[in-house]
Amino acid sequence: MSRKRVGILISGRGSNMASLVDAARRDDCAYEIACVISNRPDAPGLQIARNAGIEAVALDHKALGTRDALDAAIHEALLANGAELVVCAGFMRIMTGDFIAKWEGSMINIHPSLLPLFKGLDTHEQALQAGVRVHGCSVHFISAELDAGAIIAQGVVKIGLDDDADTLAARVLPVEHLIYPAVLGALAEGRIRLENGQTVFADDDAASLSILATG
Ligand code: GRF
Repeated sequence: MSRKRVGILISGRGSNMASLVDAARRDDCAYEIACVISNRPDAPGLQIARNAGIEAVALDHKALGTRDALDAAIHEALLANGAELVVCAGFMRIMTGDFIAKWEGSMINIHPSLLPLFKGLDTHEQALQAGVRVHGCSVHFISAELDAGAIIAQGVVKIGLDDDADTLAARVLPVEHLIYPAVLGALAEGRIRLENGQTVFADDDAASLSILATG
C-alpha cells in the first residue's frame, strides 16, 4: 500500500499533531507524516516531531514579514517534502486565498467547537457564554473563509453545570485526538472528498466517522 504523504502545520503545543504521528506508526495506516511545519520556531510541537524522527521545519512568520511570504515558504516546504495532503493542527495564522486554492480539497483543519457555532478564538468560553448544552470539535476542509469550509466530522461532548473553559477544553481535546486521525485516514484512502463545496463520503464506513459522541 502506498501511503499518502501528509504535511502538518502547527503553531504550538502539538498534541493533535502527536496523535496523528502516533496513528501513522500503525502498519495499516493510510498516511505517513512527511513533515511538520511551524510558524513559531519555539513551538513545543516541533521538538515532539524531531523526537519522532520527522522532518521539522520552522518558518518564522515575523522574519518572513508578510502573509504571502509565509504561505510561499510553507508551500515550498510542503512540496520539498512531497506532501500530498495538508493538515492544520493548532496552526494560528490566517492563510492567503492563493495558498488555500492550491490545496483545495487536500487541506483540513480541526476546530474546537461544533461549527458553524463559535468560530475564531476562545471557543470554550464562547460556548459557556452562549449557554449551549453540547459542545465539541469539528474537522473541516479549509476554504477561503475562516472556519467555514465543508464540515467532515464532529465530536460531541456534554457541557456540565460545573464546567469552565479549562475543564471543557480538557474534555474536548481527547475527542480531537480520536477524530482527527480517523478522518485523515479516510481522506488518505480517498473515501472522503470535497465536491462542489460539500463533503462526500464514498461508503457507510467513511460516513460513520462523521459523528463521534462521548458521554
Ligand atoms: C486544538 O484545540 C485545536 O482544535 C485548535 O487548536 C488547539 C491545538 O492544540 N485548532 P494542539 O497544539 O494540537 O495541542
